[in-house]
Amino acid sequence: MSKHTIPHIAKQNGHLVLMVEDKPFILLAGEVHNSDSSSPAYMEHIWEIADHLGMNTLLLPVTWEMIEPEEGSFDFSVPQALIDQARERAMKIVFLWFGSWKNAECMYAPAWVKQDLRRFPRAQIVKGKNKAGRQVSPTIPVKMPYTTLSYLGTETMQADAKAFAAFMGFLKDYDEERQTAIAVQVENETGLLGAAREVSDEADALFTSEVPVDFAAYMRAHSDSMTDEIRAAVLGGRECGNWREVFGETADELFSAYHVAKYVNTVAAAGKAVYPLPMTANCWLDKGSESGSYPTGGPVSKVCEVWDFCAPNIDVYCPDIYVPQFKEVCDEYTRRGGALFIPECATHSYAAPRLLYTVGHYHAICYSPFGFDDIGHPFSAQQGFLFGMDVSDPALKTPQSFEEYAAIGHILREMMPMLAQAYGTNCLQAVSAETDPVTPHPSGNPFMAIPPMMDFGAFRVSAHFQGPMNPRGDGALLCLKISDAECWLVGNACSISLSSGDPDRPNLDLLSVEEGSFENGAWRPGRRLNGDETAQMNMANPSVWHMKFFAYK
Ligand code: DGJ
Repeated sequence: MSKHTIPHIAKQNGHLVLMVEDKPFILLAGEVHNSDSSSPAYMEHIWEIADHLGMNTLLLPVTWEMIEPEEGSFDFSVPQALIDQARERAMKIVFLWFGSWKNAECMYAPAWVKQDLRRFPRAQIVKGKNKAGRQVSPTIPVKMPYTTLSYLGTETMQADAKAFAAFMGFLKDYDEERQTAIAVQVENETGLLGAAREVSDEADALFTSEVPVDFAAYMRAHSDSMTDEIRAAVLGGRECGNWREVFGETADELFSAYHVAKYVNTVAAAGKAVYPLPMTANCWLDKGSESGSYPTGGPVSKVCEVWDFCAPNIDVYCPDIYVPQFKEVCDEYTRRGGALFIPECATHSYAAPRLLYTVGHYHAICYSPFGFDDIGHPFSAQQGFLFGMDVSDPALKTPQSFEEYAAIGHILREMMPMLAQAYGTNCLQAVSAETDPVTPHPSGNPFMAIPPMMDFGAFRVSAHFQGPMNPRGDGALLCLKISDAECWLVGNACSISLSSGDPDRPNLDLLSVEEGSFENGAWRPGRRLNGDETAQMNMANPSVWHMKFFAYK
């Protein structure tokens, strides 16, 4: 038995945090490429890279096909070896359960599931067809072959739940005491591609019968937080009746979400009954497009109310963010008070500034670039496609510098306990060039434009991301307030100015500015900055500064 409560989600200062070994924990994480964690030998150098990048956690697939190659016979040797590797390096793991779904397909189901189409039916996006072409985009006249398991397959759901429960049983036996695995993602990017809902005879029969009354009532009672489109459909429909009558044009997607979420919840519940680690569900974003063109039924933010009703065993819905609109997506996923957990994001040159920003601004539980071992290398064709290379912002077209990510990662990893303690308070803030534009001065004078500012009450910190000293325009700055006269700054590619926020003592002077680094949690001061270095406080490179100051009349 561990001396600690098992990892769990709790409220700290009104904000959701992940508790690990009874303390708030920030996952400064990375997700590996899909196939890497199938080979512990291959993983050796991936762990090394993660450590160089300052990560404290890896997100690692564990696949149904590998742990249950024959029905009922389990092999946990690979996840066990991964846990051993993590322990040697004092790292944590979030396992990603690739079961019935992986990117809305069934590629990780074991052969005995794939081959038995009677027990484990496929989703029909064309009536009567187990596999059908799906249009990839309205503008590309190519159809991609598509098949996945049906979300109405009760036996499939039970088999998946049984395998997942067996995996969680292994985790409990092998890891409950050491708590290396701190959360589990249930399935990967669930939903249906090619149609907004399944169209088998069974699906049609369910769709044209009564919507469960408790669900219809729940949706009406929770319309406040919904997007306009879903709210209008819910409030404009009938209180009871079939899916179309109750949910109008959104009925197909809500039907899919209802069944996918119930399925995932059954799997999660079976696992939690054995070992109740926090459980997450990630999603392929809808990007404002038509249902069916993204995995429909997965936890895109507009159907979160459906998931709330159907999947109480899922603790956090997680966006996989490759789109340029990073802040918009984070805002969407936090607007209902949920914690921000980003299991996948891009490795272009906003990767490091976004790490600072999500920790400092959103007090995120997890930030995790996907395929992080690519950091510092030219983009592959897949990355180019994923990151949307038609964008005009050069930062989105440039790979993240390895050295910069590593420098910021190391600073945050050392400071993590301090930062996590400040979660839920306004003592921890951040701004970035990407997310916080300069406010133009009403006169139009560019020299009087107002830079992004963090307000800590007694003092304010402004960040200057553009200008002759920092021409690159992808900077970020995080500030942790210690008292009214002391703070830590972590930043890159920005200049800084401090001012008093106290109207009775409007003048502020610096007392000391130290640059330095942390080693094993202890501050090792480097240069004491003064003179030119504080007249123009510029962080040209990733830096951490300890500042003391005072305000006077
Ligand atoms: C999103 C998926 O969740 C990942 O497993 C991976 O396939 C990435 N896309 C990109 O390749």
